[in-house]
Amino acid sequence: MKNLGCIILAAGKGRRMSSSIPKVLHNLCGRPIIDYVLELVKSVGIRRPVVVLGFGAKLLKGYLKGDIKTVIQKRLLGTADAVKTASRCITDKIEDVLIMYGDTPVLTNSTLTKLIDFHLSNGSACTLLTADMDDPSGYGRIIRKRGQVVKILEESQLLNARQRESHEINSGVVCFKRKHLFKFLAQIRPSEKNGEYYLTDIVGIMVEEGLRVDSLKVDSADELLGVNSRRDLAKLWKIMNERLINSHLANGVTILDPATTYIEDNVTIGQDSVIYPYTVIESDVKIGTHCSIGPFARLRAGVRIENDVFVGNFVELVRTTIKSGVKVRHFGYLGDATVGKCVNIGAGTITANYNGALKYPTVIEDKAFIGSGSIFVAPVRVGKGAITGAGCVVTKKQDVPAGATVVGVPARILKRATKNLIL
Ligand code: UD1
Ligand code: CA
Repeated sequence: MKNLGCIILAAGKGRRMSSSIPKVLHNLCGRPIIDYVLELVKSVGIRRPVVVLGFGAKLLKGYLKGDIKTVIQKRLLGTADAVKTASRCITDKIEDVLIMYGDTPVLTNSTLTKLIDFHLSNGSACTLLTADMDDPSGYGRIIRKRGQVVKILEESQLLNARQRESHEINSGVVCFKRKHLFKFLAQIRPSEKNGEYYLTDIVGIMVEEGLRVDSLKVDSADELLGVNSRRDLAKLWKIMNERLINSHLANGVTILDPATTYIEDNVTIGQDSVIYPYTVIESDVKIGTHCSIGPFARLRAGVRIENDVFVGNFVELVRTTIKSGVKVRHFGYLGDATVGKCVNIGAGTITANYNGALKYPTVIEDKAFIGSGSIFVAPVRVGKGAITGAGCVVTKKQDVPAGATVVGVPARILKRATKNLIL
């Protein structure tokens, strides 16, 4: 999309979040909110969007990836002022400009594509994305006369009951003809209430000047929701979680109770795996086929699970690789571990991977049998086919030789491997 520019507004403080970090950096299903907006913009073929930064600009800049341009809005004087700040990055070659708010992360590619296509074909000065919302409080309302958009009024600008009747909200996602946008932006006056320059006022100005403003109304307001408060964030988390779960279901994963299952972004799960209720799978986890996970399991970043693995209740895994055929069925914590093929991990097994300063690895080789309540004080290695007795503590660097049996605290060798051990 060569002639379509894009400005993403992300300078606001997010006052209603009551937070010390910029709103768009808050975590939504394993990624910062702004990430979703940037990915979406990229997915519709827009190159180099301009991101307007302000509050926490330095921190935010550090998180931004990909081919983007940033500008700083020095004083947070409102959304119209933010667009003005970005105007110098929008060259004359650009005919149309898409404006997005960095706090609206669950919009889909299909809706945005429809809006852009509609705008590019309708010849209007401005095309808004709207929806009817049961409770529109906090959103700008679309005011129509005989079906035509005549203006947008923010909550504080609503004067009478008739205006309050409108349940059609402004999503903030909007396309403009560049020349009209920058011409009329200059005519916006500060709000009487708080001195901010509202971008939304441009709609009334354009209509009064006789320009055409169009709108695309979507059926469900859900994907237009913005994050203004922690409550909104919780609501969007639910929507995003449901969306991610649906995509796993469509890929052939059984998820028995989506309502109590929590799966973040950037998770892959192979076909015919089953996820039991109350399971938490965080970002950066890969699970193979025919696995059984949960109930009540927690898989954290850096977990790689091959095929045919059982991870049962109250098991926490982090930065751990588990090869095929392993069983970790009940209670336990494996961190920074590598578990070989067909290992059985007894109930209550723990890797003590952290000494208060650094983290160390535990390696358990193929076909080892780990007794209930074994503790591995990392770094430590358990050889192929070795057995650890119930309740033993394998101390640092005291590796268990292949085929041996160890018991006790600290663990000592009870039996060495027989010579003709075949593993
Ligand atoms: C805005 C819209 C409202 C719409 C809603 C949709 C205006 C005046 N109102 O309200 O019609 O229904 O979004 O979610 O536009 N920002 C800046 N610089 C500023 C102020 C804000 O970059 O000086 C950014 C914020 O970081 C945010 C976005 O603009 O990403 C929207 O600002 P916000 O304060 O959240 O506006 P809303 O009150 O939600
Ligand atoms: Ca908002």
